[in-house]
Amino acid sequence: MALTVPALPFTFVVHALAVAGAVLVLVWVLHFRGGIAWEASNKSLIFNLHPVLMLIGLIIIGGEAIISYKAYTLKKEVKKLMHLVLHAIALILGIIGVYAAFKYHNESSIANLYSLHSWLGITVIVLYGIQWIYGFVIFFFPGGTTPLRSESLPWHVAFGLFVYVLAVGTAAIGYLEKLTFLENSGLAKYGAEALLVNFTAVLTVIYGAFVLLSVSSQGPPEDENGYSAI
Ligand code: HEM
Repeated sequence: MALTVPALPFTFVVHALAVAGAVLVLVWVLHFRGGIAWEASNKSLIFNLHPVLMLIGLIIIGGEAIISYKAYTLKKEVKKLMHLVLHAIALILGIIGVYAAFKYHNESSIANLYSLHSWLGITVIVLYGIQWIYGFVIFFFPGGTTPLRSESLPWHVAFGLFVYVLAVGTAAIGYLEKLTFLENSGLAKYGAEALLVNFTAVLTVIYGAFVLLSVSSQGPPEDENGYSAI
């Protein structure tokens, strides 16, 4: 399934879209939604942490973790360390982001886990955690036997990409859900904020597409450190 084109141009697009996506979600919550807070009497500010941490943490930093083998001309061990540390950061920020959504619900007496978004969201976090722990144990410490590593690698790649695509889809549904709530409470359907939220969601999907294009393409030529060398 590998494309025969170099990955590097795709990885530059990933970095650029990462910055753009982070800016858009921050403009949304800070400029249009009143900011973010961990403790506040205005509980919406607690919710606002959720899209910020899910996009910048799980999706953007997670995407950068996925492409680390294709985006840099570094030693295999360095790339492996980048891959696992960036994924750990993505997972931790994702867990805090989901916790913020529960905290907002609990402090506002809103039910938990009633929506498709929340069901898929919990699934994503659990699978992401399992994937990280399995990868750590088999490929890093204590490390599996050579046959187990090579047997596990294609599964690690396939399962990891599945979880990542599910995360991008879940985030897209999250924007839709929040925007629908806001529009039902009177937000203008073609107003600046509605366009910004939809545009952030579109950018999130395009970001995911470029992460997939990057991993399906060829790493730097001098790099003998692709997946097969893990
Ligand atoms: C992959 C990224 C994401 C994951 C894993 C995720 C996960 C979750 C989970 C597990 C909940 C349930 C909280 C509860 O029941 O108390 C939730 C709630 C919510 N999320 Fe996300 N989320 C993600 C991204 C987003 C984004 C980008 C938005 C955009 C605003 C969003 C909007 C919402 C909304 C409105 C709720 C409250 C309503 C509901 O429970 O469905 N989510 N999310």
